[in-house]
Amino acid sequence: MRLTKEETEMLEGKYGYPVQKSMEILVGLGECYGADKMIPVTSAHILADWTVHRKAGALFVEEMAEKGGKCVIHTDDNPWSLGPWAWKDKGIPEEFANWQLKIHNAHVKMGVFVCHTCTPYYIGNVPRKGEHVAWSESSAVPVANSILGARTNREGGGASLAAALTGRVANYGFHLDQNRYGNLKILVTAKLNGSHDYGTLGYFIGRVAPDGIPVLVGIPSSVPTESLVQMGASAASSGSVAHYHIVGVTPEAPTEEAAFGPKKAKDWQTFEFGEKELRETEELLSPATSREVELVVFGCPHASIGEIREITQLLSGKRLKSGVELWIWTSQIVRAYAEIMGYLDIIEASGARIVCETCVVSAPEGYLKKRGIKTVATNSAKISHYIKTAQDVMPYCGSTERCVEAATSGIWR
Ligand code: F3S
Repeated sequence: MRLTKEETEMLEGKYGYPVQKSMEILVGLGECYGADKMIPVTSAHILADWTVHRKAGALFVEEMAEKGGKCVIHTDDNPWSLGPWAWKDKGIPEEFANWQLKIHNAHVKMGVFVCHTCTPYYIGNVPRKGEHVAWSESSAVPVANSILGARTNREGGGASLAAALTGRVANYGFHLDQNRYGNLKILVTAKLNGSHDYGTLGYFIGRVAPDGIPVLVGIPSSVPTESLVQMGASAASSGSVAHYHIVGVTPEAPTEEAAFGPKKAKDWQTFEFGEKELRETEELLSPATSREVELVVFGCPHASIGEIREITQLLSGKRLKSGVELWIWTSQIVRAYAEIMGYLDIIEASGARIVCETCVVSAPEGYLKKRGIKTVATNSAKISHYIKTAQDVMPYCGSTERCVEAATSGIWR
């Protein structure tokens, strides 16, 4: 790899241990993937979750902070395993909380904006078309690549922190034009109503093309951002899709030809997503059998203010069924917005709550069971995919309206 004089000095230790260690990681990755050089990045989104970092990751983050590591670009972080709301909640072991707090404190010391959200783009981190960034969080990566037109690989915890401390990444993968063209087509013929259906489409895409770059045809250009967020999150759960094109929506795809670039029709396979595929995929996402629901969850990925407004309208004037909980996950900033708008009062009057900075997938193992929860309803395909293994509870996945109905009746219909 070709390094500039400054990058060589970083690698040799002139700027201290954290920068040197970070450059070692980035150069190692670059050599692995055949990068020719390093490139500057303008923002990093890094991991904060103890259940992902575990002890080795947490010690690495702490060491970087203790030895003087400082973020040189805008850096924000993903949800942590538990927010202040749950600090002393039942089922959270003290050791778990302490490790999580160590990661948080290290982030503060390094100058990370500790927003603890997987939707940083809803609170101001919005890179422009062509901008190179270093984002972790599988659901946020397709937002950067495919909705905003920025360029990022699906970074790991160590690599995204290394980028934050150096302002660099190696030039490979989605940073290069030739790796961003579509390589399969998804013909959408099903009628999609709302973001839950888009999440179902995403789940289908991840299954048929786990690491492909799909070009979607048949999606209206008026599709709401929240629906695309759901679609990308679920495609990155059933598969590892990090980039897609929607003709007329993705900044790089004004036409189908532009989306496929130099590739010819014979080079790609086409999959249809019709009513049959919609129904079949929906069934996969709802494996629960007991009709009784103890918990309803929204906000995976963390909810936008528009999604909270929709839930508020559905909850208005209603009460949750006794024994049923309803949580909406989001960032502190969006929660504050919901409070200003008067949504929070309506949500809390119904018995539901807005839960900030965290998500239940990263709660300690068995946490939901300890709360007496066996069956969960959600509008998120991503949660449905992960909650079975992360928390050993069974999910139903359906529209926001259907989930609110389950919260007020206690029954999934
Ligand atoms: Fe965000 Fe947790 Fe879902 S990190 S995307 S709310 S699994």
